[in-house]
Amino acid sequence: MQRTILVTGAAGQIGSELVPALRAAFGDDRVIATDVKEGAPDLVGAGPWQTLDITDAAAIGQAVQKHGVDTIYHLAALLSAVGEKKPTLAYEVNLGGLFNVLEVARESKAAVFTPSSIAAFGPDTPPDPTPQDTIQRPTTMYGVTKVAGELLCDYYHLKYGVDARGVRYPGLISYVTPPGGGTTDWAVDIFYSAVEKGRYTCFLAEGTQLDMMYMPDALRAAMELMNADPAKLRHRNAFNVTAMQLTPEKLTAAIARHVPGFTIDYDVDPVRQGIAESWPRRIDDSAARAEWRWKPEYDMSAMTKDMIEKLRARTTGN
Ligand SMILES: NC(=O)c1ccc[n+]([C@@H]2O[C@H](COP(=O)([O-])OP(=O)(O)OC[C@H]3O[C@@H](n4cnc5c(N)ncnc54)[C@H](O)[C@@H]3O)[C@@H](O)[C@H]2O)c1
Repeated sequence: MQRTILVTGAAGQIGSELVPALRAAFGDDRVIATDVKEGAPDLVGAGPWQTLDITDAAAIGQAVQKHGVDTIYHLAALLSAVGEKKPTLAYEVNLGGLFNVLEVARESKAAVFTPSSIAAFGPDTPPDPTPQDTIQRPTTMYGVTKVAGELLCDYYHLKYGVDARGVRYPGLISYVTPPGGGTTDWAVDIFYSAVEKGRYTCFLAEGTQLDMMYMPDALRAAMELMNADPAKLRHRNAFNVTAMQLTPEKLTAAIARHVPGFTIDYDVDPVRQGIAESWPRRIDDSAARAEWRWKPEYDMSAMTKDMIEKLRARTTGN
């Protein structure tokens, strides 16, 4: 199916890779990349670019109308650790921004992809495994906006027929754009430190287990879900998806197979440790596997090998 797509938050960790992937699939001119950041076009390749603040509802509506957009990948948000530092702004951007996008989608009949997160769960949620449908009482502002966002997307689908879809991403590991201030950033930082210094000081404690995914799988999940048969999507807004469960020591051992002598030590940040301990240790993604045939391609060792190769090639220029 041909689409004309607007991506919000296009300069971020996901957007900077999703935009090129969407452009490869649909054509450069069919994907309008937007972000509140200035000067982001370099990050997202050839094709239309617009500076856009997601809290400005009229500007979103104008951009959608101008380009004849039929699908919005809505990525603009503040992440968990930043959200705890700036809860008011996180509320305005995450929930206010999503509300604006859904209103524009209702008026323009556009489809919407919105990522939720494992942060939509909380300390009362069964942590291992965390079912698709379960208790969601998060204790961070980020998590509050994610649960409310899932419900808002469901509401716009039920009430207005907006084709809203989403996944609950775990921590995402990638090498193109650094992560934007989340609790799982350690699993990216560790690779940069391994390649540059051969050692890493982790802000989460030994034994802290969280779900993770390599970026190519995350991009595929977003694109495959939007292409899935709507009749089969019972959990359309917020499918659990995961690829691997990592602890700092497990990932350290995997990296040490490529970086001999690689070591880790710990300087635990109590805020991020507290957030991590309120999240699942392993989510059950069987609903996504059943309803739209979700299947990750990268496990820990395949991801680790690729990350190290890509980062080494970048530092040596090969
Ligand atoms: N990266 C992860 O590990 C992860 C995990 C789970 C869910 N998610 C979700 O995926 C989405 C994208 O995450 P990401 O990792 O790319 O985040 P990121 O922080 O790397 O990027 C977010 C982008 O949003 C932009 N932005 C912030 N405020 C804005 C505003 N007012 N108007 C327009 N743009 C604004 C930022 O400039 C940034 O480029 C978010 O909804 C996030 O909650 C990410």
